Amino acid sequence: MKQIASAQLREMFQSFMESKGHHRIQSASVIPENDPTVLFTTAGMHPLVPYLMGTPHPAGTRLTDVQKCIRTGDIDEVGDASHLTFFEMLGNWSLGDYFKKEAISWSWEFLTSPEYLGIDKDRLAFTVFEGNEDSPRDEESHDIWRSMGVKEDHLFYLPKKHNWWGPAGITGPCGPDTEMFIITDKPACGPDCSPACSCGHYLEIWNDVFMQYNKQKDGSFIPLAKKNVDTGMGLERTICVLNGKETVYDTDAFTDILACIASLCGKTYKQDEATTKAFRIIADHMRTSTFILGDDRGVSPSNTDQGYILRRLIRRAVRYGMQLGMPEGFTTEIAKVIINQYREAYPELERNSAFVLEQLKLEEARFARTLKQGNKEFDKVASRVENGTIDGLSAFHLYDTFGFPIEMTVELAAERGLKVDTASFEEHFKKHQELSHQGADQKFKGGLADQTEETARLHTATHLLHAALRKVLGPEVAQKGSNITAERLRFDFSFGRKVTKEELAEVEKLVNEAIQADVPVVCEEMTVPEAKEKGAIGLFENKYGERVRTYKMGDYSFEICGGPHATHTGELGSFKIQKEESSSAGVRRIKAVITGPAT
Ligand code: ALA
Repeated sequence: MKQIASAQLREMFQSFMESKGHHRIQSASVIPENDPTVLFTTAGMHPLVPYLMGTPHPAGTRLTDVQKCIRTGDIDEVGDASHLTFFEMLGNWSLGDYFKKEAISWSWEFLTSPEYLGIDKDRLAFTVFEGNEDSPRDEESHDIWRSMGVKEDHLFYLPKKHNWWGPAGITGPCGPDTEMFIITDKPACGPDCSPACSCGHYLEIWNDVFMQYNKQKDGSFIPLAKKNVDTGMGLERTICVLNGKETVYDTDAFTDILACIASLCGKTYKQDEATTKAFRIIADHMRTSTFILGDDRGVSPSNTDQGYILRRLIRRAVRYGMQLGMPEGFTTEIAKVIINQYREAYPELERNSAFVLEQLKLEEARFARTLKQGNKEFDKVASRVENGTIDGLSAFHLYDTFGFPIEMTVELAAERGLKVDTASFEEHFKKHQELSHQGADQKFKGGLADQTEETARLHTATHLLHAALRKVLGPEVAQKGSNITAERLRFDFSFGRKVTKEELAEVEKLVNEAIQADVPVVCEEMTVPEAKEKGAIGLFENKYGERVRTYKMGDYSFEICGGPHATHTGELGSFKIQKEESSSAGVRRIKAVITGPAT
C-alpha cells in the first residue's frame, strides 16, 4: 500500500471532498460549546449537531474538516498498542444534501483510486446494518457497494451493536452506518471471522453514518426532516494501517514525541515492556494535555470536569516519567515538541503556548508536593510491615490517595528489601475499577451507550430507591447489600416487616419524581466527617483513607459512594419495582428495573 504521512492525508482527504463540492471548515474546540452533557468533543459530527438537526450552516450543505477529538473513557487502557485519548477525525457531511449513493461512491473512490489512497480492492471489506425494529435492513447500502464491484463475501450485515452510530450524547441525530475495513496480513481467526471480530484480521478505517433519526429522551426514534450523512476516518489509525505499522505509536504522529522522551530520559522506546508502556502513556497523555491546554477554550488543571481529566492525564504522565527517570520540568519539553509538530494544522497551539507551558510547569510542581506526602505515607506503611510484605490494601491506598502506581510502590519497597502483595493489590484495584471506571468518565465517553452505562443508570436508581425507602419507611432503613446486572437492580435493606403495596407505590412514585426532575448527579470528594456533617448517608465504617466520594442528586439523594453514576437523573427514563421479599431476618429485598434510554 501507499506510504502516506499524516499531513498528506489531512490535505488529500479535504481536497478530495472539496472536489465533490464540500466546503472546508475549521476544527471546532475540543471543549464543546453548547453541550453540558459531554466534557470533550468526541467526533467530527459533535460540533455540527445543531446543523444536523436542521439549522442552516453558513458554509452550506456539504462540509469537510479534520476535527480534534478526545475520548478518555478508556484512559487506563492507554499504553497498549491501540488506545489513544486524543485523535484527529477526518470527516465529510451532507446536511440534507446527498445521501447513501454519493457518500458510498465517494468513499469507494477515495479508498481505491490510485490518485488517492489506492488500496487494493480485494483488501477492503464493508459492513452494513442488518435491521431491527427501529430501522430496516440497509439493503440499499449493500446494493450500492455491490454496484461498485464489491464481492458478496466482502460484505457483511451486522446488528445495531456494530452498525449504528449516535447520538453523541443521550438524544440527537443518529442512524445506521456502513463501515469500511482493511483486510490485514494477519490471518483470519477462524471460519466465522468477520469485521465484528477484534482479532486484527479486519481493521476499521472509515465510517459513513446515515443520520436519519433523532433519538428522543424516551428512547424512541423520530425521522429527521432532512437526511444527513456524517462520516469519520480516524487519522492516526488510518495512517497506521496504510503504512503497515504495528501500532499507532509507530506512525509519524509520534516519531518526534517519542524521540524527545528518549533524549530526556536516556532510554530507548521498546527496550523492554515497562519502558514501552511508559513511553506510550507519556506520549499519549502529553499530546492530549497539550491539546486541552492549547485550545482557544483551554482550561487549567482542577478537580472538576475537563480540568480534572487534564489533571489526571498530566499526573499520570509525570508518574510514568519518574519511572523513566525523566528530569523535572520534562512535560514542558515534550509539549514544545507537540506544539511545533502541529503548529500548521492547529495554529492555536502556538498562540496559546505560553499558557500551555506555564500550566504544565505549575501542575508538575503541585504533583511533586502530593508525591512528597505520599512518600511520607509510604514510610509509615513500610514501618508497619511485619512479614516483609506490604499488604494489598495499603498499596492500593497509596495508589488511590497519593497516586502511586503499583510499579513505583514495588520499586520503593524493593529499595528497603520489602515485597508487595501485588495479587491482593490487583484485587482491590479491580474492585475499585468496577465501581468507578465509568463514574467520573461517564460524561466524556460519548459514542454508543453500552452495558456499563446501563449499569451506571441502575446504580443511580439504587441511590434514589434507598433515599425513597428512608422517606417512606423511616430512617431505620439502611443498605445491607446491592447487586446490579445489565437488566435489573437488587437492593437489600434493614426493615422488620413486609413492605405494603401502598408503601411500594409511594416509593416508586418518589423515585420517578426524582427522575422527572432531571437533576444533575454531582460528585464531590470530601472527608468522612464533612460528609457526615453535610448529611450524606452511606457506610462510614470500613473506609480507609481520609477522603470519600459523595454523589448528590438535588434534594433527592446524598450518599457516599464510589460511582459509577448517570450524569442526570433524567437518563433513567422511568423506574419500576418488580418484587419485594424477605432476604434474611430483619432484611428485605427489592428488585427493580428502569426503562432508561437504551443505546
Ligand atoms: N460519527 C461517526 C464516528 O465517530 C462518523 O464514527
